[in-house]
Amino acid sequence: MISGAKNAVLPVLSATLINKGISRIINCPDISDVRTTMDILKDLGCKVKFIKKSPGNIIEVDATNVNKSKIEASKACLCRSSVTFLGALTARLKEAEVAYPGGCTIGERPIDIHETAMREMGIETTLNNTHIKTKVFRTDCNTEPTKNIYLKFPSVGATENAMLAAAGLEESVIIYGAATEPEILCLGNYLKELGAKIQGLGTGCIKIKGQKDYAKENLIFKIIPDRIEASTYFITAAAVGDGISVHGCIPAHCKETLDILRTMGCNIKEHKYKYDGQEQSVIEISDGAIRKKLKSPGVIIADAYPSFPTDAQSLILPLLAVAKGETYVIDKIFPKRFKAAEELMKTGAKIKHTESGIHITGRNHLKGNILYSYDLRGGASMIIAGLLAHGQTSVYDEDYIKRGYDGLTEKIRALGGDITECHVDP
Ligand code: EPZ
Repeated sequence: MISGAKNAVLPVLSATLINKGISRIINCPDISDVRTTMDILKDLGCKVKFIKKSPGNIIEVDATNVNKSKIEASKACLCRSSVTFLGALTARLKEAEVAYPGGCTIGERPIDIHETAMREMGIETTLNNTHIKTKVFRTDCNTEPTKNIYLKFPSVGATENAMLAAAGLEESVIIYGAATEPEILCLGNYLKELGAKIQGLGTGCIKIKGQKDYAKENLIFKIIPDRIEASTYFITAAAVGDGISVHGCIPAHCKETLDILRTMGCNIKEHKYKYDGQEQSVIEISDGAIRKKLKSPGVIIADAYPSFPTDAQSLILPLLAVAKGETYVIDKIFPKRFKAAEELMKTGAKIKHTESGIHITGRNHLKGNILYSYDLRGGASMIIAGLLAHGQTSVYDEDYIKRGYDGLTEKIRALGGDITECHVDP
């Protein structure tokens, strides 16, 4: 069963700060980025509870008494999504000081688009070497009933920060050039449950009419399934499975990944059924690499949603490394996100860097080796490579993997994969 989406639950947890009441967020994954975000909420004065439940854990946040507007580097540096506390604290306390965020080393991760969005909303924004600070000055003579902000790139995080800050302003804000990922819609739907008036979610133009403050006594909200986790298991099923069903995903959110696997020759069927009174989807994948030589899709270009996701780019590399033919892979979101490709070469994968990305020549098989995770999706990619390769593979630095996958080894073992977690003393 696919867990709740990491990249949806994290901004929604930031958003719970805006509610002077209790938010019960359901279908949360138990991953270290969530635990880090819970710690930050507690530091800011919230009461936070993690209630284990299967399927779909619950996180209860009581943000009645938020009493701090500053987040130190010691916490902010642990994950990229800490940056969304900037918008949430600005909405709640009308000021914020957040240390620069951490995040996977997958390329440049500036926050200039976040900064510009705050300024274009009329929020005073200053940066020093370590923190970004915001302050909202209320001027009764506010002449502009609507603030227009223009994102130079559909940044997911900057769109989220702009939405969060705008939710705390009384004038309308229109975000042009907004990201359209499903995680953006999930955050927007939480803000609408809170009481913000939002139009245009899922389009590049989002209009938000916020209010000074919010107080929902007991707001219950469900997180969408994780489309990247689902894509991880689709690719694993295509690589080493023989008729695997993946439950609890939203197929429409994973269309590009499923289309690529179909192009490579997999047989993919979608069924629907009722579970717990709700309609559920199951994706059945057969005719994978176990049964026949899959063929190269030719070119994969990772780009903003609804294109093939950058987060699935590392994941599909092992499958391309044993497909018949040559594949060019370009990542327009993080052009240098190919550390996983370099690590994959240790298994005998025939990969070379090109001017705009990488070129992969499919081989008969990969051979097991000692591999390292350098980021979350790269680590998961090495596990897929290990399942595909002949012989044993050890993947080090599983902490990266635990940042974003809830029960990965258990789920792969349930699929029949021979995988064991071992702790090696440093
Ligand atoms: C989010 O990161 C996700 N993380 C990433 O997932 C995902 O890869 C990325 O969106 C793209 O989909 C979370 O949601 C926590 P961006 P984010 O801002 O918001 C440039 C995973 O594995 N940019 O959309 O940081 C940036 O350098 C992680 O789950 C600026 O130039 O991504 C990049 O090239 C990895 N200035 C591009 O935009 C800015 O101010 C996209 O970044 C912000 C971004």
